Amino acid sequence: MNSNATTLTSGAAALAGGLDVEAIRQDFPILHQQINGYPLAYLDSAASTQRPVQVIDAIRRYYTHDHANVHRGVHTLSHRATDIYEGARETTRRFINARSTREIVFTRGTTEAINLVAATLGQRLGAGDEILISAMEHHSNIVPWQMLCEQRGTILRVVPINDRGELLLDEFEKLIGKRTRLVAITHVSNALGTVNPVQQIVASAHARGIPVLIDGAQAIAHQAVDVQAMDCDFYAFSGHKMCGPTGIGVLYGRESLLETLPPWQGGGDMILTVSFSGTTYNELPYRLEAGTPHIAGAAGLGAAIDYLQKIGMEDIARHEADLLAYASQALGEVPGLRLVGTAAHKAGVASFNIDGIHPHDIGTVLDQHGVAIRAGHHCAMPVMERYGIPGTARASFAFYNTRTEIDQMVGALRLAIRMFA
Ligand code: ALA
Repeated sequence: MNSNATTLTSGAAALAGGLDVEAIRQDFPILHQQINGYPLAYLDSAASTQRPVQVIDAIRRYYTHDHANVHRGVHTLSHRATDIYEGARETTRRFINARSTREIVFTRGTTEAINLVAATLGQRLGAGDEILISAMEHHSNIVPWQMLCEQRGTILRVVPINDRGELLLDEFEKLIGKRTRLVAITHVSNALGTVNPVQQIVASAHARGIPVLIDGAQAIAHQAVDVQAMDCDFYAFSGHKMCGPTGIGVLYGRESLLETLPPWQGGGDMILTVSFSGTTYNELPYRLEAGTPHIAGAAGLGAAIDYLQKIGMEDIARHEADLLAYASQALGEVPGLRLVGTAAHKAGVASFNIDGIHPHDIGTVLDQHGVAIRAGHHCAMPVMERYGIPGTARASFAFYNTRTEIDQMVGALRLAIRMFA
């Protein structure tokens, strides 16, 4: 182990926040390896979380014993696969407290969920109609709307943020208006860590009769989400950012609104009858799920949700808040380091720059010391533009991380500073 990291270790590693993190880590085989001669410190969960054995086993079990196509067969395996797929839908419904499984549409991920809304709800929009987003969105909550603007003459309005990375709510109130047809805002910024006051945003938009889509990709695994309490109209998230598989995600949609959307992709599960004189469409949520779905992905997602719930979302949030506070203090003591994103209400993301060292060089040196972070624009180039920087180095935390890993990162950063001095 790096000697600097050793001297920085506080001794308060595993039990910060009340979770038995060492026991949790036993569920994550990938975390137990050496990278470049150092213990892996995986601090890149905002890009993608790791999976516990429970999720890996659920996928393996599904393919080993239960695979067949869903909603089609009369045979046992097809029934089993359907039960697993629909069971995951019910597990997801409960997790976010949706009213009905008709409101849970499986997608490939957050990006596809937002594109689905843009391609369907967007068909109603015309020239001069406005969509309101914020300056802290990642590309998935910008580009689908820009594409719609190009196709339909819709206008994209952007709520600015302050230097701390907080949404300017007074500007939001000025920009939302008679032409606004949808508000699409992130719950938590992946680049800055800011947690937005989504309930307040929804209330304000609803007072004007405007629906709200919340991009929950960065929030879903880090705090309890209740779509009824939030009262949002759409909530989008990805399996791979919540210990589940890649290639599966969810669009929650308020049933009364989903009912009004035209079909999106055609084929497979979304139809009831087809003839050359016309096609009739299936009911929700199948109407919005064309083709054979990612059944194994749903099996893994259901297992991931069970796992998160067993640990407890409140305890997860508490542990990650502790890690963020610890990291912010430790990083604040590193000479020449500047945190980017210092909102009063933040999730477990620490973005930073160090004078004279490019973020990619920081990422490379950290990797040489076993520490995995993300370096660059984090799929949020307008955020970088807002701060006039090419990118940041970003450490992001999950419930399986420890203070020791943060010490390892800080020790390696101090070495990087000496190397580049
Ligand atoms: N949006 C992902 C990230 O924050 C990929 O890294």
